[in-house]
Amino acid sequence: MSSSTGSNKLWGGRFSQPTHELVDQLNASLPFDRRFARHDIIGSIAHATMLGRQGIITEADAQAIVAGLRQVLEEVEGGTFVFDVADEDIHMAVERRLHALIGPTAGRLHTARSRNDQVALDFRMWTREAIATIALALLDAADAALRLGSRYATAIMPGYTHLQRAQPILFAHHTHAWAVMFLRDIDRLADAYRRVNVSPLGSAALAGVTHPIDRQLTAHLLGFAGTSSNSLDAVSDRDFVIETLAAFAVIAMHLSRIAEELILWTTSEFGFAEMADAFSTGSSIMPQKKNADVAELMRGKSGRVYGHLMGMLTVAKGLPLTYNKDLQEDKEGFFDAYDTVLALLRVLPPMLDTLTMRPERMATAAIGGFSLATDVADELARRGVPFREAHEIVGRLVAQCVAHERTLESLDAAEWAAVHPVFAETPPDVTLAASVNARDIPGGTAPRQVALAYQRAHDDISTWRARITDWTQALEQIDAVGSHVHR
Ligand code: ARG
Repeated sequence: MSSSTGSNKLWGGRFSQPTHELVDQLNASLPFDRRFARHDIIGSIAHATMLGRQGIITEADAQAIVAGLRQVLEEVEGGTFVFDVADEDIHMAVERRLHALIGPTAGRLHTARSRNDQVALDFRMWTREAIATIALALLDAADAALRLGSRYATAIMPGYTHLQRAQPILFAHHTHAWAVMFLRDIDRLADAYRRVNVSPLGSAALAGVTHPIDRQLTAHLLGFAGTSSNSLDAVSDRDFVIETLAAFAVIAMHLSRIAEELILWTTSEFGFAEMADAFSTGSSIMPQKKNADVAELMRGKSGRVYGHLMGMLTVAKGLPLTYNKDLQEDKEGFFDAYDTVLALLRVLPPMLDTLTMRPERMATAAIGGFSLATDVADELARRGVPFREAHEIVGRLVAQCVAHERTLESLDAAEWAAVHPVFAETPPDVTLAASVNARDIPGGTAPRQVALAYQRAHDDISTWRARITDWTQALEQIDAVGSHVHR
């Protein structure tokens, strides 16, 4: 598109000088928003189709534009599309290429549209896919957590509070906790998806359009569940980015906590687990070292994901309605958060699948540290002693055991009788198995309850998988807009 002025920009009409080259570099978003290429083109195909059907442009022009856009899409997907920073952003790059392919008719595509509703559209389309991809990876991670627990279904480990041994638990109960953390992360993403899945097209620059467009039609062609209700809001809010980033930050936090546990468990001090060589690294000087670098990265990378959330909140906070160029800062952090979280979620399942647990070490640790003290107090309470009193009695008993280097399990019948008369007939059953079995309450660590919890988690995973597959199939239909309309 030539211009008679000094500017070669698509918007160059009112300009008599070209932009400074440093401004071009600062202003350009093409180096990163090229990730929207497919979404931008498919969005344009839907828009052009609508313009033709509404008689805003002729059917012939609409067909020429759509055919041209399809070719641009092929170039993008075939890797032959030339991304030139001089084009500023992906929207301009696509339009310029369309012009090169089909000539001045290309100029009709931008009727009843602005880059402001266009970029909001592209970003929403991209975010839908991102959410579906992360959700599927979360399902795989939840599955892997359950697989690990099932491999060591009978193993008992210490449960901790304050990182002090607290009460014995089934190891499988611990990994089930990881699985339900991931399932809630999916639920959070699904909630965000609902609000992302709204079409902003028709808002144009900020105030809507003067042409008789059909907003429902473009929304329908692009698989959106509805259309935005305010043009100002639609082009200027990025809360859908922020809430998706917030969901990513929670995922990163969960991954970081799991990573921290893996780091602890694989130390000689704990010795609960051994990481496969494939997921560990060595030291350049200390030949004996086997470090949990992968888990440490999983813990460390939470920092950058949180940072991107904070960055986006800060970018958005002072912006008057409507679009401001600050909003172009909405993409890189989000892309990086997505790439980071996805890479971590993908490495977790094979890492867990190759993890070797040491059930004997876990059992030894579980019995140590007087982890069964609560069970003794509970037994006193069951035999009629008020719990507060029972707590006091067992506390003194533990103190005596510590002083004499004894354990609760080693006490004989006479010693138990001396603890309290209710133990005279039958001493309490202080074993790991009894302790775990006794917590037979929904959500508790008794094997029966854990088995039920696994069933429910597997059911939830299947339900989510079906639902997310529905999303991805809907999104694939939209890709068909790129190949089927007018064909
Ligand atoms: N590259 C721009 C962005 O990412 C597209 C929207 C440009 N709109 C504008 N009024 N300059 O935000």
